[in-house]
Amino acid sequence: MKKDKNTNFFHFKGLTLEIHPEVYNPAEDTFLLIEALDVVKGKSVLEIGTGCGIISLDCARIGANVVCTDINPFAVDLTKRNYSRNKHLVKGDFDVRKGDLFKPIKNKEVFDIIIFNPPYLPTEKKDIVGGSGWFDVATNGGATGIKITTRFIDELTDYLKQNGKSYFIFSSLSDSDKLESLIKKKKFQFNVVSCRSFDFETISVYCLTKK
Ligand SMILES: C[S@@+](CC[C@H](N)C(=O)[O-])C[C@H]1O[C@@H](n2cnc3c(N)ncnc32)[C@H](O)[C@@H]1O
Repeated sequence: MKKDKNTNFFHFKGLTLEIHPEVYNPAEDTFLLIEALDVVKGKSVLEIGTGCGIISLDCARIGANVVCTDINPFAVDLTKRNYSRNKHLVKGDFDVRKGDLFKPIKNKEVFDIIIFNPPYLPTEKKDIVGGSGWFDVATNGGATGIKITTRFIDELTDYLKQNGKSYFIFSSLSDSDKLESLIKKKKFQFNVVSCRSFDFETISVYCLTKK
C-alpha cells in the first residue's frame, strides 16, 4: 500500500482509494483477507462491511460481479466515490448498498463468495471510544468478540450458493471453541486458510464452505 502526498488517498495494486476519518482504514486484517481470497472472473461476490471498498474493488478489478454493503453511511458514500474513481479498472458489476448485515440483500439473491472483515475485538463498556460511534461500529465485537460474527454466520447459509465459500477474519482474543461449535451447528465445512501473529494476538482467515 503506497500513500499519496495527499494523505487522504493511497494506492493499492493500481487502485486509487480515498480514506475518510469516519471509515475504517485498511489495515493488516484487510490485506490478510485480500491475500487469502480465491476470487476469479465471473463469480458473484458479496462483501459485508466494505469500509472504503478496497476488498470489493479488488474483486471487481479481477472481473467478479460484486455487491457490497456497510451499515455506516460514510463508508457507503466513500465506496461509491472510490468506485467512480476506479471505474476504468473494474471489469465486473459493482453495486453498493447501505444496511445491517444481510438486510440490503434481496430475497433469493445468492452468491458464490461472501466476505466479511467484521468488528472482531472483544470490547467491554470501558473500551468504547465513543465520539461519532463509527469507529466502535467497525471494531466492537461485543464482550465475546464474535457478537457480529455470530449474527453473520447464523444468516449466512441463506445467501450462499451450494459449494459457495465465505471468508472472514477471526481474532485469537475471541473464543474459537464457541465460533467453531456455531460453524458446525450450521453444518459448514471450514478451514483456516491463513493467519498472522502480532505480540498479543493472531488474526486468522476462516473459510466456510456450504455443502
Ligand atoms: C473492520 S472494518 C472492515 C472494513 C473493510 N472491509 C476492510 O477490511 O478494510 C468493519 C466494517 O464493517 C462495518 N459493519 C459493522 N457492523 C456491521 C453490520 N452489522 N452490518 C454491515 N456492516 C457492518 C463497519 O462499518 C466497518 O466498515
